[in-house]
Parts: sequence; C-alpha cells; structure tokens
Amino acid sequence: MDTKSYTGYKGLPPFVNLLSVDEALEKGQTAEQSVNQLKRFHWTLKRLALIFSNRITSMPIYELKMALGHHAHLCAEHVNTIHERVREMREPPYGLDTAPDKNLDLLLEEIQCAPSPEAFALGVYTKVIPALTRGMQNSLNNINKLFEHPTYRVIRFALLEMQDIEIYGKKVVESLIDDNKREELANWLTFLDNCLDACGDLDGTKDKKEQNLQAQFSATPYQYDPIPQRDERFIDKYNMGVNAETFLLDREQPAQAKLIMLCFKRIREIDVPEMMASIIEETKGKPWNYYKDMIRQLWDETRHAMMGELGFISLGIDWTKIPITWAWSLELNTKCTPKERHAILFFIEQGLMPAKTGKQYEWEVAVAAENNLAKLIQDYDWADEVLHARIGREWIVPEIGGQKQTMEFGSKAWDKAYQEWDKWKTDGLTEHKNWWPEIYAEACKNWKIEPDAKVLAYNQSYKESRADQKEVINH
Ligand SMILES: [Fe+2]
Ligand SMILES: [Fe+2]
Ligand SMILES: [Fe+2]
Repeated sequence: MDTKSYTGYKGLPPFVNLLSVDEALEKGQTAEQSVNQLKRFHWTLKRLALIFSNRITSMPIYELKMALGHHAHLCAEHVNTIHERVREMREPPYGLDTAPDKNLDLLLEEIQCAPSPEAFALGVYTKVIPALTRGMQNSLNNINKLFEHPTYRVIRFALLEMQDIEIYGKKVVESLIDDNKREELANWLTFLDNCLDACGDLDGTKDKKEQNLQAQFSATPYQYDPIPQRDERFIDKYNMGVNAETFLLDREQPAQAKLIMLCFKRIREIDVPEMMASIIEETKGKPWNYYKDMIRQLWDETRHAMMGELGFISLGIDWTKIPITWAWSLELNTKCTPKERHAILFFIEQGLMPAKTGKQYEWEVAVAAENNLAKLIQDYDWADEVLHARIGREWIVPEIGGQKQTMEFGSKAWDKAYQEWDKWKTDGLTEHKNWWPEIYAEACKNWKIEPDAKVLAYNQSYKESRADQKEVINH
C-alpha cells in the first residue's frame, strides 16, 4: 500500500490529523530518551526560575528587574507539568531532584554567579535560553505524536513561553551590550558553549565532548545579594516624606488628586519583588509549590509596579521626578528573618482586605475620579490580592501557627523597618523632602486646572505613622 495516498473513511485524515502516515512510521524516540530530555528541561526550568528570581533584588535596571520577575514566573509555571509527565511514564524514584548532568549544572551555576547585569544577560539570553528552546524544538521535531502526544503538549506549551523569553532577551542584549562588553566576556561565553558541548547540548541529544571544565565565576560559591539596587532614574531613595495612605484616606481631599497617589503606590510596589526574592532565596527546604506560588505573587507585584508606571504615563507625569523609596525592601532584607518578612507581607496584605480602607476603597477612588484606566488598574490590583491572601494562608500562617499570631508577629516585625527615619536624615541620606506639591502642580498643568490650596498644602510624612496608619513607636 502507498503510504502517501492512504486515507481514512471518505478521505478523513488518519490518526486524527496528528501526523502523516510517513511521519508516524518514521518518527519516534524511546520512552527512556524522552524521559531523559524531560528531566533536563525540568531541572533547567526549576533552577532558572530561582536564578531569575534571586537576581531581582540586586538588579539595578528597572526594566530588567521587571523582566526577571516575568521570566522567573514563566519558567516556574512549566516545572510541574513536566514533572507530572515524567511521573506518568516512570515508577519512583524519578530522579527529578538531582542534576541530570554535572556540566549542565555547571552552566547554570555560572549564570547564577554572573557578576554583572551584562554578563548575566549575555549568559542567560544568548546561551541558556536559546539552548533550551533549541532542545524543546528538537524534541517537538522528533516526537511521534501518536505515541507521545502527552509529552508533545507539555513541551509545546513550555516552548511558546521560552520563545517569549528568548525574544525579549535579544532586545536586552541589543540595548545593553556593546562590542567592548561582549569582547570582555568572550572567554566566559566560550566557556558556556563548552559546558553545553560537554553535556551533549542542553537536551543531551548530541555527543558529549568530554572535557575537564573548571568553574569560572562559580569558582566562588554563589552568594545572594540582599541589598536592593535601582538605576539612576531612581532619586532620593530613602525619602519617606509623603505618606500616600493618609492622603488617600482623607475624605476631604479630591479624588482626582488621589489618582497621583494611587500611581505612586503602585509603582512603589517595585520594592515587593525586591523583598520577596529574599524570602524565596533564604527559605530553604520547602516543597516546590511554595516557590512556584511565591514566584507567581512576585510576578504580580512586579506587574503592579508597571501598572503604576503606566498610570504616570497616562497622567503625563514623569515618575523619575518622584522619590520611589527603597527603604522597605532594604530594611526588611537586612533586618528581618525570611519568616518575619513573609509575616509582614501577610500582615500588610490582610490590611488591604477591609472595604473601607483597603483595595476596595482604592478602586472606589478611581471610580470617583471617573478615570477608566485607574479603575482597571485598581480592579486588578485588588483581584490579585485575593490570590496573595490565599498564598499567605497556605504557606506562612501554618508555619507561625494561626492567622492572629501571624498578624501580630508581622506587625511587630514591621516596626523594625521604621527605626531609621531620623538616622537617614542625620546621616545626610535624605531630607525626606515633601515632593508632593511640585508633582501635584505639574499634574494640574496637564489637567489644565488651578491647583487646589488644600491639596497643595498636604504635608504628612511616614515619620509618625506607617502605611497602615499605625503610629510609629520607635521615635
Ligand atoms: Fe502588592
Ligand atoms: Fe498591588
Ligand atoms: Fe500583593
């Protein structure tokens, strides 16, 4: 029979159109080969998710900080489906918790230890991610979809998102890396190629070129850097001179002016991924779903910051003129334990639940201001909190032993972050300048309205009260 002309009933394609007869006859790899590739993808994605997340805190470039949150999330989300697929084909032990190849792991260690944003970008976006998409594409090309359709699905969806990372990564390299930088790192980049050669490419399907590779950047063991960094557009980072919450909650102040504070509060959420990355890195030994959930929340917080950026664009306000404080992430990362940090986050997020003062209220401000964009921003900022509260209930509350206990523990720990207000001033790090009148006046110009005297006169800092309106007790 001619395999080309073979058809199903009345011309229906055979094999539910998954593949042609010839493909079905020719293609295929053993389950053993398939499992080996899946394990490599699994290991790479799991490690990359944490590598991307760990770097968020010390990444100075705002856009890359955001991208790291995105890429950590995309990698983390595919770990479980691949894990499940291996479990479908194999009996325990699955061997998913150990590096499938020491040279693959060396490659990932090198990326983790890359000393600069440029080295990291070149390593991850020109070497590791392309090797991952190449491996996944290779699997898709070789899979016999009739035999191995479940694997095909899992890899196909993962590849889609890895390609998104690859596309963005190319833009990062085009924008940030010049020839000199590339030249400077040329030997290291060749070393990364050697790692890939030595492990038979990331998917392990090529011949392994055995060689004795000596760790480069990873020769010194990796150390997480808990100090948040920001790029030069972020000014006066210790400034805690404008209490956004007190203004927002003042029923006498007009809704339109409050839009500025909402945007400020959103973009200031840049400090949440900076802080969450430290919890994720310093909390060891949890089940994978803990890290996956935390990274999902971290990505949401990253998006909230970008929603604030968008809000400022829409208002015609240059956000780089506003001090977007880093005090919270800096203080929490350097003074609190990971458990305290997580409890603080939980405490703050629980505080966002009451309708009269929390997320619903912020949304109502946007409604009252009749601003559709702000309404959408607040709608989703609020919606995401539902999930974040659940993540907190699932992971930190049981650890501390109850909702009430977690709240108390979190509130107490949060006070530590307010101990330095005066010290920063006397150390000359900030004047805690009230930046509000200037920014409000600029917005009024765009709105073509006269500034309101009462709004203009707003002058309330975080010296006496925290964001949750609780009195600061350490002064
Ligand atoms: Fe948030
Ligand atoms: Fe938010
Ligand atoms: Fe949140």
